[in-house]
Amino acid sequence: MLAIIGGSGLTTLSSLDVSHREVVRTPYGEPSGAIVFGQIGGQPAMFLPRHGYGHTIAPHMVNYRANLWALHHHKATGIISVASVGGIRSDLQPGEIVVPNQILDYTWGRKSTFFEATGTPVTHVDFTEPYDADLRRRIVEAAGALSIPVKLGGVYAATQGPRLETAAEINRFERDGADLVGMTGMPEAVLARELGLPYAAINVIANHAAGRGSSANGIHFDSLEHVLQEATGRVRAIIERLVGSSDNCQPMGLSV
Ligand code: HPA
Repeated sequence: MLAIIGGSGLTTLSSLDVSHREVVRTPYGEPSGAIVFGQIGGQPAMFLPRHGYGHTIAPHMVNYRANLWALHHHKATGIISVASVGGIRSDLQPGEIVVPNQILDYTWGRKSTFFEATGTPVTHVDFTEPYDADLRRRIVEAAGALSIPVKLGGVYAATQGPRLETAAEINRFERDGADLVGMTGMPEAVLARELGLPYAAINVIANHAAGRGSSANGIHFDSLEHVLQEATGRVRAIIERLVGSSDNCQPMGLSV
């Protein structure tokens, strides 16, 4: 069963025919909210809003370990992460959808591993390719079947937030090779990897990154609402198509 983690703009999944909700207790504390279970196009799916149902949990306060553990516990076979981002690469315009293929991690102080309990053997997961190739392909195929343009590939820079970046930081990220910038991609992706869960992201460009394009003189989040709302409609359609034609990927099955 695929799990969808929704971000800003996607706090509910209207196409999910809800069967039940479950509050999950985890060894890592509370997830962001109850997991919603149901079906999309006859296929089972589950949904969790990363920032909580009232959109009250800031990116650095999200309990990523509890979220991932809860989805894994409920037998998720893969994770589609939806998140809005700022566009750094000059061809990335607000409203566009990107399926990234790499990550730069600038976050700090977040609980970013399951392998740290006393007595737990030191474990180094391979993270050369942080996103699952098959899930990425399925996102792109679903979008293609609906003639929804998506950009395949991009380096996602994960920042600490909740503040937005300075123009100089964005210049630095670009020199490092980043194409897009967001606040929630890490440690979510690596925790999924530690659990053996295939993970891929659908990123919506909400704005030009700080100092770029229409954000040359600042980022005004209020004016981004309509961009996100419209793009979220396309993201929902992609998810419906993907889950509805699901060939349910198998988890690699590491148990934590
Ligand atoms: N920076 C970081 N996170 C974001 C942005 C941004 O410009 N836009 C949406 N999420």
